[in-house]
Amino acid sequence: MKYKVLLLGKNGQLGFEFVNYLNLYHDFRVDAFDHEELDITDREKIFVTIKENAYNLIINCTAYNAVDLAEDENYLANAVNFLGVRNLAEAAKINSAKLIHFSTDYIFDGNKKKPYCEYDNPNPLSVYGMSKFYGEQAIKEVCKNYLIIRVSWVFGGKNNFVTKLINWSKQNQKLEIISDQISSPTYTYDLVKAVPKMLYENLTGTFHVTNTPVSKIEWAKYILKKINWSGEIHAVNMGSVKLKAPRPKYAVLDNSLFQYSVNWKMPNWQDATDRFLKRITIL
Ligand SMILES: NC(=O)c1ccc[n+]([C@@H]2O[C@H](COP(=O)([O-])OP(=O)(O)OC[C@H]3O[C@@H](n4cnc5c(N)ncnc54)[C@H](OP(=O)(O)O)[C@@H]3O)[C@@H](O)[C@H]2O)c1
Repeated sequence: MKYKVLLLGKNGQLGFEFVNYLNLYHDFRVDAFDHEELDITDREKIFVTIKENAYNLIINCTAYNAVDLAEDENYLANAVNFLGVRNLAEAAKINSAKLIHFSTDYIFDGNKKKPYCEYDNPNPLSVYGMSKFYGEQAIKEVCKNYLIIRVSWVFGGKNNFVTKLINWSKQNQKLEIISDQISSPTYTYDLVKAVPKMLYENLTGTFHVTNTPVSKIEWAKYILKKINWSGEIHAVNMGSVKLKAPRPKYAVLDNSLFQYSVNWKMPNWQDATDRFLKRITIL
């Protein structure tokens, strides 16, 4: 056993996937906790747990992810995405553990119109984006042995765009879908497969790891066709949909650094979507 792992947020989309996947490997012995069992804002408990169990790898799958609600819950978003993350970074440093953390395309403003690379300047548009950016900064200031993995449009669990779209399609014959937002879906299964590759290469720093890019409406059309939905799709602009938090229009994350570093590519979004639809036994 090479890694004694503390995994936080085991009931989230990504956390759940990690626990299943890493348990297949002899190199990882995983202790996983949900929010109630171990709250990352509980600084003392975090420090004691990591020290007493001598974890050498911390995988943080927790997040305050309610993008719109965060506009009214600035304190809560930052308590988890910034202060909680700083607790993990400090505890990782003191115990010489590696920290793996996940961040978001929402740290960018979406004005670049070309894929964002790791060293592009963040300019978050929302409270959520800002809190995730502060979390990244805290890690970079505190510890050296970290991986910050930026992802976007995460799907793989029960609550994501694919599952929501399928539910909407069951209740409606007309759907309005945003046509001017482009990003990259990230299938949790592909992402958890990518992480051991990064560990085996001893990588540290910030990386973009996603499936390939697509507009939200093109993704929606693909899913709805696969499930043989016969309703009508109406394209709407982001500006005409009343969402509390602004979102970047173009937030494609360039994966080149990841691809060169591990000599492997994340599968394309169609392939990832097909496998997820099969998993949820829609096909
Ligand atoms: N979902 C997306 O589309 C998306 C896009 C870009 C980036 N990301 C990033 O990808 C990562 C994984 O996202 P995900 O979709 O798997 O998230 P998720 O499904 O929302 O899971 C997050 C988990 O964190 C837990 N949690 C919240 N506050 C906590 C705390 N203080 N202490 C311990 N646990 C806490 C939640 O538990 P409770 O539910 O019990 O509170 C939940 O199980 C996150 O870093 C997220 O910011 C996600």
